[in-house]
Amino acid sequence: KVFWAEEKWVLPGLVDIHVHLRDPGQEWKEDIETGTKAALYGGVLRVACMPNTVPPNDTPEITSYILKKAEEKGYVKVYPIGCITKGQKGEELTEFGRLKEAGIVAVSDDGKWVANSEVMKRALLYAKQFNLAVISHCEDPTLSQGGQINEGFFSAKLGLKGIPWSAEVAAVVRDLLLAKETGQPVHLAHLSCKEVIPFLRWAKEEDIPFTAETCPHYFSLTEKEVEGYNTLAKVNPPLRKEEDVLAIKEALKEGLIQVIASDHAPHSVLEKEIEFSLAPPGMIGLQTLLPLSLNLVKEGWLNPLKLTECLITNPAKVINVEPPSLKPGKKAEFIVFDPNKTYVLGPDIIQSKSKNTPFLNKELKGITVLAVIGEKIWELNWAV
Ligand code: DOR
Repeated sequence: KVFWAEEKWVLPGLVDIHVHLRDPGQEWKEDIETGTKAALYGGVLRVACMPNTVPPNDTPEITSYILKKAEEKGYVKVYPIGCITKGQKGEELTEFGRLKEAGIVAVSDDGKWVANSEVMKRALLYAKQFNLAVISHCEDPTLSQGGQINEGFFSAKLGLKGIPWSAEVAAVVRDLLLAKETGQPVHLAHLSCKEVIPFLRWAKEEDIPFTAETCPHYFSLTEKEVEGYNTLAKVNPPLRKEEDVLAIKEALKEGLIQVIASDHAPHSVLEKEIEFSLAPPGMIGLQTLLPLSLNLVKEGWLNPLKLTECLITNPAKVINVEPPSLKPGKKAEFIVFDPNKTYVLGPDIIQSKSKNTPFLNKELKGITVLAVIGEKIWELNWAV
């Protein structure tokens, strides 16, 4: 069969290392089948899934469950991430070696429990023994406690407790110092604010081993989205200001942030329909990852090659896996993306079980039209 790719981009599949698949335990939000289907439709052919499941991924049994289900029901390759500490308590470290044997590619404290400094230091040293990536959630909870949105004008206007930028910067600086001290690289997840950037520049100058990540919502949206108590714009870290959006784009251009990930965080309609302060933070992002990231090329921040590094090769490097590639002799693992297709992101286009995105029913440009993995070929979004 011939597929015409005229005026389209042919790319190796994207690698998204920040995805919440919610399976096991919260399958009303998402499961491995629907989450990986959303990934496929987003052109993401590999996902690493965060450990804040129920129960959390802190044992080899949970890791094996995820891998087995992904093998049976998954549309794309899944790499589980293990918890740093047992039972989401932030105290006793999980058994990194046994988890690695079961198949994890990294450990993380992403989600509601955050490692304190002492725990993070031990985790870095322990991870070094097993050559495991450490992904830090980058939040000092003693500074962000109870915060709902960015601290400042809107938190005052809406009467919601704010999350200050210092909560992110304090954790990032700590992680960079610990990476320097231990010699173990740290991956800084979902960076959102301008104040963090000078510290990344300093760390680069100091040759500190780190990688840094941001998500499309941090370079596409501002805190204004929360007006009217819009729970779809509630996310952690929160959406920040125009100047932060600009600083994140500049950091991508300067190479201080090397990874773009979705932080796909599904929550059901009911959970997002309640009062703002009770609604869980997070937004889905697998299907908007590439269209929104493409704006960085259109606006001149990144050239197409740099963009593919941020979405494919750099994230693969963080979790130490070989990225999909178009090189001859490699297994086919590529997508065809139509950068010019304009469409409305209606609920029927979203393959995820949850529809919680501020881009719901908004116009987007760019869509994955074909995905090829080995002998499997999917023609996608035929209904658009
Ligand atoms: O907004 C968020 N949602 N941030 C996180 O770090 C966790 C995530 C979730 O699991 O819902």
